[in-house]
Amino acid sequence: MDLKLKGKTALVTGASQGLGKAIAVSLAAEGVQVAITARRADLLKLAADEIQAMGYLRPVIIVADLYPENASEAIAAQALKLLGHIDILANSAGGSRPLPLDGPKEAWLEGMTLNFWRLRELTHALLPSMIERKFGRVINLTGTREPRNLNAAHAAKAAVHVWSKGLSKVVAKDGVTVNCLQPGKLRSEQIDKRMPTEEARREWAKKEVPMERVGEPEELADLAVFLASPRASYISGNVIAVDGAARFFAF
Ligand SMILES: NC(=O)c1ccc[n+]([C@@H]2O[C@H](COP(=O)([O-])OP(=O)(O)OC[C@H]3O[C@@H](n4cnc5c(N)ncnc54)[C@H](OP(=O)(O)O)[C@@H]3O)[C@@H](O)[C@H]2O)c1
Repeated sequence: MDLKLKGKTALVTGASQGLGKAIAVSLAAEGVQVAITARRADLLKLAADEIQAMGYLRPVIIVADLYPENASEAIAAQALKLLGHIDILANSAGGSRPLPLDGPKEAWLEGMTLNFWRLRELTHALLPSMIERKFGRVINLTGTREPRNLNAAHAAKAAVHVWSKGLSKVVAKDGVTVNCLQPGKLRSEQIDKRMPTEEARREWAKKEVPMERVGEPEELADLAVFLASPRASYISGNVIAVDGAARFFAF
């Protein structure tokens, strides 16, 4: 299938490793000129080198920390300056933030800032140019809707689901789609830190995942690339789980 992505441009956050990097590789493989952003310049350079060595367009690099106020607006401005326009935004930067019952206000604020506020601000900074060009794709990586504990990221990801749903209605007539991908457990730095060996991952997955394995980043990236393509023009406002059938609830 020709995904009709050749010549499009994309900004991928959290692209220094894990799911963001996999999305960047898969977009580049379809002929997309990608801008990759995260804090670690060495890993971003490595990712750009790898993508170029595969024979794809070398991504441009934006080294940036999302925490400072106005970070999102600065990243958006730099991406627009480097690539002229952005057709596709993949928001992958984020992370789990488990908190105890008496978790301090600052910790909740930090988790919400990275996982919701900056993502929303970055998207809103790029939307005007997408609307003007009558084409845009926003893909947000979120997380579980079945929390078993307290975690600021759970609350933030739920906010992303609801905000995305509303936004998808507002920009629908402008050729912009907004979807969320909900990873179960897929290999990345944060997962490998918690389960460093293949044996540990298999043991965990046997109990928690009907497919009895942790997913590979490419298994999510392929769907992200399809959603990013003009082929997915009638799919918007959705939350799609990529979790080896791990979710319990039908709706
Ligand atoms: N992997 C999973 O199974 C899973 C499960 C549920 C949800 N998710 C969600 O899916 C997304 C990607 O997951 P992942 O596993 O690849 O995440 P990860 O291994 O934790 O990586 C997070 C990415 O975000 C970047 N990042 C973190 N803080 C940042 C900051 N302050 N400024 C700029 N960039 C920052 C990191 O790059 P630098 O450190 O270089 O800045 C890194 O590339 C995240 O939103 C995560 O919450 C993943």
